[in-house]
Amino acid sequence: MNKADIGLIGLAVMGENLAMNMAGKGFTVAVYNRTVEKVTRFVNGRAKGMSIVGCESLEALCDALKKPRKVMIMVKAGTAVDALIEKLIPLLDEGDVIIDGGNAHYPDTMRRTEYVRSKGLYFVGTGVSGGEEGALKGPSMMPGGAVEAWPLIKPIFQSISAHVDGEPCCDWVGESGAGHFVKMVHNGIEYGDMQLICEAYHLMKNYVGMDDDEMNAVFDKWNRAELDSYLIQITRDILSRRDEDGSMVVENILDTAGQKGTGKWTAVSALDAGVPLTLIGESVFSRFLSAMKEERVAASKILKGVVPAFSGDREAFIEDVRQALYASKIVSYAQGYQLMRAAAKTYGWKLNYGAIALMWRGGCIIRSAFLGKIKEAFERDGELVNLMLDPFFTQALSSAQSGWRRVCAAAAMNGIPVPAFSSALAYYDGYRCERLPANLLQAQRDYFGAHTYERVDRPRGEFFHTNWTGEGGSTTAETYTN
Ligand code: 2AM
Repeated sequence: MNKADIGLIGLAVMGENLAMNMAGKGFTVAVYNRTVEKVTRFVNGRAKGMSIVGCESLEALCDALKKPRKVMIMVKAGTAVDALIEKLIPLLDEGDVIIDGGNAHYPDTMRRTEYVRSKGLYFVGTGVSGGEEGALKGPSMMPGGAVEAWPLIKPIFQSISAHVDGEPCCDWVGESGAGHFVKMVHNGIEYGDMQLICEAYHLMKNYVGMDDDEMNAVFDKWNRAELDSYLIQITRDILSRRDEDGSMVVENILDTAGQKGTGKWTAVSALDAGVPLTLIGESVFSRFLSAMKEERVAASKILKGVVPAFSGDREAFIEDVRQALYASKIVSYAQGYQLMRAAAKTYGWKLNYGAIALMWRGGCIIRSAFLGKIKEAFERDGELVNLMLDPFFTQALSSAQSGWRRVCAAAAMNGIPVPAFSSALAYYDGYRCERLPANLLQAQRDYFGAHTYERVDRPRGEFFHTNWTGEGGSTTAETYTN
């Protein structure tokens, strides 16, 4: 029998679907699962007639593969991956490749890349996005790790990934943990996109007083212009789905958001890197706040606000909400890209930002026409410092900002929380502010902690201290630490 092109370990739904996708593209796939009955069930069931070879042990899987071998792990993220790597190493030969397609945290992928290399093998950690359907029909794929492995896996990965305008939504991201880092940022951006849509819905529902049918029509319209995206589409569809009794399904769902933690990882890595990733941060916090259902119900009876009262031109306000969503989305992606730039600098990754936009352009949850514009921006300037400074986005923000400001003001006056819209606006206004009040902040720090400050009339890097209280003399915090 011919040897298989790739081995796949882990036959949960993502693993099964990826194997089906690969086989459908003409590759022969050897599969293995810890619970071996699943292998038999799969090859005799869904995979029947496909070029999928069932293996009852890891040894059999490794024996079934063409050299250099490529083994893709699709199991639960965490220690299971490390345990499998340990078992695979003695079964593989120098130059073989181990790929982790699970949702690993990037520091684990960095560690595993190094470790596997020390054993003479190559490790790739790849983000796979698009859920079950994406895995089957074409996911967005973000591989990183040992660059030597890329030519070996490229033909398989680029043929099974989603394609937009003939181009694969899969390219080499970078060394070490870069692929899983970019996947993590993707997930954070997904949190942001979802929160923005929820804020638009909240305003239309509780401030303007629209019903779900009306909002369904609005999202349908929005999906035909700049906001054309998967998440707007599914929101439109959600707002038309009725329960058996005729009520709207969405209105019957408890308002407590769940999460698996990748948004939190993104926010934590931004805090570690010192990057103001405010919109994603607010999106994670909003999920936490939503989960405090009982506290909120109790507080709603105690803490007074205002009763929302809409007046004015409905159509015009809905257009303002659209502008607010669009502008905030630009800010969110600008912040996400700044986080990737910071990581690239810290870890020495050469990230291709335009290629990342293309990887997200199709196949994944954040897929949208908008990502095509981001790709164009990075094609114009690969070293673009902030997406907001690209002429297309500068112009878009400029024309959206009046509506955006009106929406944030109306939300504040009417007691509708819009943390993502308003934090995005605060970031925009902060980023374009030549002189922030941090002069006062530095004075405060110097006052109570002798932390010193730089002066506007002296070169950067010279530090001064004022004896604010008449006590302490010229002793500074620097003096203490020296
Ligand atoms: P199972 O079918 O034997 O449970 C998702 O949970 C996938 O990860 C399943 O294919 C599961 O295998 C696999 N998995 C979870 N923990 C594992 C481990 N420690 N070793 C191997 N596979 C594991």
